[in-house]
Amino acid sequence: MTQTAADSPARRQRAQIKERTLRTDQWWRYPLVTFIIFTAFLVYATWAIFDMDYFVSPYHAPFASPCLATSCPEEARLFGLAPFGDWYTWPPGILILGLPAGFRFTCYYYRKAYYRGFWLSPPACAVGEPHRKYTGESRFPLILQNVHRYFFYAAIVIGLILAYDAVLALVHKPGGLGTWILIANAILINLYTLSCHSCRHITAGRLTHFSRHPVRYKAWTVVSKLNAKHQELALVSMFSVMGADLYVRLVAKGIISFPFA
Ligand code: FES
Repeated sequence: MTQTAADSPARRQRAQIKERTLRTDQWWRYPLVTFIIFTAFLVYATWAIFDMDYFVSPYHAPFASPCLATSCPEEARLFGLAPFGDWYTWPPGILILGLPAGFRFTCYYYRKAYYRGFWLSPPACAVGEPHRKYTGESRFPLILQNVHRYFFYAAIVIGLILAYDAVLALVHKPGGLGTWILIANAILINLYTLSCHSCRHITAGRLTHFSRHPVRYKAWTVVSKLNAKHQELALVSMFSVMGADLYVRLVAKGIISFPFA
């Protein structure tokens, strides 16, 4: 096999520059803020998964939805079902946590953000990283990031379930503040999901003639507009899901109890 210039050992070596960076701006702010925000989210998510005040009729905390265990209150069960038998006694949120978490963890935006904020690989553009080797995402374990496209399908289902929860809240408590918080969250979560790069590829990624597929072309143009805002939607939906989840739990605990809660 012929070796190309891009494959050559000389090409794979890093540039030999002594200075860590020649940048003079505050490049460290992005990775630092990312680190703080994502750490706060992880701490909150860990607490929420084990907190059992996830339902107060008609509100369902997003981190515990869908509720599929027999330990869930009957009203909280998705379509009244509890497919996991009595043997399952752990918090119900653990059953579904892997799907939204896997979707975000393998998201292109989040990968960029936590590679910079947590692994400093690299911390910013044109800033040297502390690691000696770089193999990209071409080897185990990072090659597993390619499963993102499959998490996308699971995220579609989770997004629909959150929308269903919001509709239930609207039907049973249209004047409740929690209802509108759940609706706003469901919209943002679904916009984030639809703005996914995998979604854009699915709509029309392999077409060579847009003119022969007008519906898919239309879908692609809509998704492409959302995709341009993917980073913003990733962050805003992260805050919205955390805020909605916390709100429901505070109502369930009786900490928030005003009449229109
Ligand atoms: Fe971010 Fe798919 S690329 S959710």
